[in-house]
Amino acid sequence: MEVFFWEWSTYAVRWIHAIAGIVWLGFFFHTRELDRAMARHSATQPNAVGEAWSIRGFGIYRTVKYLSKQDDMPSEKLLVWYKWPNIVTIATGFLLLALIYYSQAELYLMDINVFVMPAWQAIILSICGILLALSIHEAIYRSSLKQNEKAILIVNFIFLTGLSFFYSNFFSGRGTFMQMGATLGLYVTSYFFINILPSLNKLLKYPVDGQPSPEKLQWFLMRGRHNNYLVLTVVFMMLAMHFPLAHSGKYSWSIIPLLIVIGAVIRHYFDTFHETGKRLVWPWAVTVSLALSVIFLSALGTVLVRQSGHKTAGSTQPFNLSAETILLSRCSMCHARNPDWVGIHLPPKGVVLETSDDMKYWASEIEKVAVLSSAMPPGNITGITDEERALLGQWVVANANKEKLLF
Ligand code: HEC
Repeated sequence: MEVFFWEWSTYAVRWIHAIAGIVWLGFFFHTRELDRAMARHSATQPNAVGEAWSIRGFGIYRTVKYLSKQDDMPSEKLLVWYKWPNIVTIATGFLLLALIYYSQAELYLMDINVFVMPAWQAIILSICGILLALSIHEAIYRSSLKQNEKAILIVNFIFLTGLSFFYSNFFSGRGTFMQMGATLGLYVTSYFFINILPSLNKLLKYPVDGQPSPEKLQWFLMRGRHNNYLVLTVVFMMLAMHFPLAHSGKYSWSIIPLLIVIGAVIRHYFDTFHETGKRLVWPWAVTVSLALSVIFLSALGTVLVRQSGHKTAGSTQPFNLSAETILLSRCSMCHARNPDWVGIHLPPKGVVLETSDDMKYWASEIEKVAVLSSAMPPGNITGITDEERALLGQWVVANANKEKLLF
């Protein structure tokens, strides 16, 4: 019963995290859209700096923007604050990290083939890494570089690429993806608390002197633009946790910088289109070529297995025996109807690998998680070797060929 309670609890946290994240993203895009609409026509209300008209729901909305406190404003209690989705997204994000990645660090964060350390060290590295990256990110934006937007973008990109490579030397592929996804997610959601909230509080407290300076406004605009470059990548990386070919290839860390550029150029396309009506072509050329590079990088180091499998697919008997032995000795302790592994109470994701029929049934999934990527065994905790992976690959091809004959 306890198992069910635990499983449902982690599921509930994931659910809330996804919902809060979606709402946050909606507000984020909506605020940018309002600012864009305001740039199109001037404000008619006294003291206002912008005005936007929109039509949705069951009516026509008129939104007016002020940079100072207004006399006819309702009391602060009645002000609608858009901060709850940020708070809930960050809180549930950390909770998920703790419930999944830290409570089972050997499985999800670490990989004995990458670096051997006690779980508590991996957890400390993960937490300190995220907080340090956030501090460096803020420091970059407050340094003298802030005058030069291109320089800031380049420095950020180099830093994130280096960070991804650094983590790949300590964590599993999935751990590295999670670590980078959490870092980028925190960049965009914590920005409100670190930078915007103090400024808004000042604005409410000092009606006359509380306005941000024009330089500060420019800085806010730039940061909003850069956060907007990151949001698509954050969503991609969170979803990629369920996609072993992305996070557990040999060179998965190098996919992350490409994903960052793809997310940024797609946002740039839409920003330009919404602001000027111009449909740029180059962002799509960049996106397609980088997407092809991502596919190539995810396959690098693994494709040969499949090719050699074709050559030897003729005799299947020895493969079956040894492939089954490999699956029994490396996988079945978790993937059984009654798993033996401490902490695993049900076959993970319903994948049972006990009989030859089970194994054949899951052949193509086995190929994705244990041959074309090293997602399984998690953290290579049962010590599968590259030769065994290659042999599994040949066995999968032999079985796949047999299936095809049926049609
Ligand atoms: C230590 C326990 C453990 C071992 C050993 C293990 N797995 Fe898994 N496996 C898991 C867990 C936990 C998950 C669920 C991962 C998740 O939540 O994303 C999983 C998920 C899977 C999935 C489903 C993937 C998906 O995203 O739907 C497949 C297929 C799989 N494992 C195959 C294997 C194979 C093949 C081996 C052996 C080479 C293996 N596993 C070894 C624990 C294990």
